[in-house]
Amino acid sequence: MAAIVVVGAQWGDEGKGKATDILGCQVDYVVKPNGGNNAGHTVVVGGEKYELKLLPAGVLSENAVPVLGNGVVINLEALFDEIDGLEARGANASRLRISANAHVVAPYHQVLDRVQERFLGKRAIGTTGRGIGPTYADKVSRVGIRVQDIFDESILRQKVTSALDVKNQILVKMYNRKAIDPEQIVDYFLSYADRLRPMVIEAELELNRALDEGKHVLMEGGQATMLDVDHGTYPFVTSSNPSAGGACVGSGIGPTRITSSLGIIKAYTTRVGAGPFPTELFDKWGEFLQTTGGEVGVNTGRKRRCGWYDSVVARYASRVNGFTDLFVTKLDVLTGIGEIPICVAYDVDGRRFDEMPTSQSDFHHAEPIYETMPAWDEDITGCRTFGELPQRAQDYLNRLEELSGCRISYVGVGPGRDQTIVINDVMES
Ligand code: GDP
Ligand code: IMO
Ligand code: MG
Repeated sequence: MAAIVVVGAQWGDEGKGKATDILGCQVDYVVKPNGGNNAGHTVVVGGEKYELKLLPAGVLSENAVPVLGNGVVINLEALFDEIDGLEARGANASRLRISANAHVVAPYHQVLDRVQERFLGKRAIGTTGRGIGPTYADKVSRVGIRVQDIFDESILRQKVTSALDVKNQILVKMYNRKAIDPEQIVDYFLSYADRLRPMVIEAELELNRALDEGKHVLMEGGQATMLDVDHGTYPFVTSSNPSAGGACVGSGIGPTRITSSLGIIKAYTTRVGAGPFPTELFDKWGEFLQTTGGEVGVNTGRKRRCGWYDSVVARYASRVNGFTDLFVTKLDVLTGIGEIPICVAYDVDGRRFDEMPTSQSDFHHAEPIYETMPAWDEDITGCRTFGELPQRAQDYLNRLEELSGCRISYVGVGPGRDQTIVINDVMES
């Protein structure tokens, strides 16, 4: 039995999709425990590129059952569009299962996300505009709509009507928008009921039974530690818990069952949307990482902000997620750049911080303290073992391991499924 959690260690887009895709071939279930169609995972299989937004990357593996866990927020229109798109390309999404307890994104959540961002002006979070925050806010306020509600029309009507009683006041009086007719929303949800019904399961029960039978389950977190609503750079975060603990809550798998916590981390750093980012680069190197790394958001098409590797962030993420292993991705992007700076600590107005500052203001003022390592010039995209990497690439990885508080078990040297060096296989840990 293995229960593996895959978690983003930075601000997202570390290559979680690729990591899941590799491990997905070896597991029975791939569960998405949090987030919604704000994610964007690019997976390259046999030269074919797939861009997943709501579905876990496990949907592309031959045998694994992909599951949307109770902690996910589901936009049904986006769900069926994504399934249809994949099936049109020959992929098989028929094994997909959905927790009856997952919440659904209503059209009014999307409207609220956009008007709230506009209202914030310069203080906007830079959300993906997919209604994720308002849907989680309703869940926590106990006025959300769950997947199971769609199969009971009178309950659905009651819940939608009472949610809109309040939201229409806000939309009309605060944001000067038109009121939304509850019947339109009820019809919208009911129109998906027949297609949705056969996919819905008691996910917590099925996943735990699978583990009891010695099967393997992988939890593929969306977003990342620094976007976690508790552990991230609040308020510039998403509205769920993408960290390892959140994966337990969002799938109904208890913490005692987790066998590996695998942190996915780029050999440098990127961020999409607003918020502090100490190692961000505004010079030619930022542009180099953006273009050479192909750093454009899958979901919104925004250019990703780029910077050097931040080992303060890596140590923090290792700590709050209890990482057992790291998967360093995109090492190939650093080939031939001469020198590679690594942030080892922060300077905040003359004070040195070796660990993440607790105060938001300190983090906003954090200046990186760098050490540098020489880069390698050889093409590493064909390397398949650690020993095949040039000595300087090995030295860089060894230093990252030392600074990050966790062993490196996988290294990505290109976007393809096979462009991966396996040092320790988490399935055998
Ligand atoms: P996710 O959201 O964490 O799944 O990451 P994204 O898919 O949004 O972004 C990661 C990008 O890096 C994708 O375009 C991947 O195809 C690509 N990628 C992943 N691993 C590697 C790697 O080792 N090398 C290179 N060059 N690209 C990679
Ligand atoms: P994956 O899974 C990168 C960011 C948004 C914004 C903030 C809040 O591909 O790593 P939201 O729409 O969630 O309320 O936006 O979070 N964000 C991501 N950034 N990768 C993601 O997902 C993200 N999902 C949300 O840009 O700053
Ligand atoms: Mg992404």
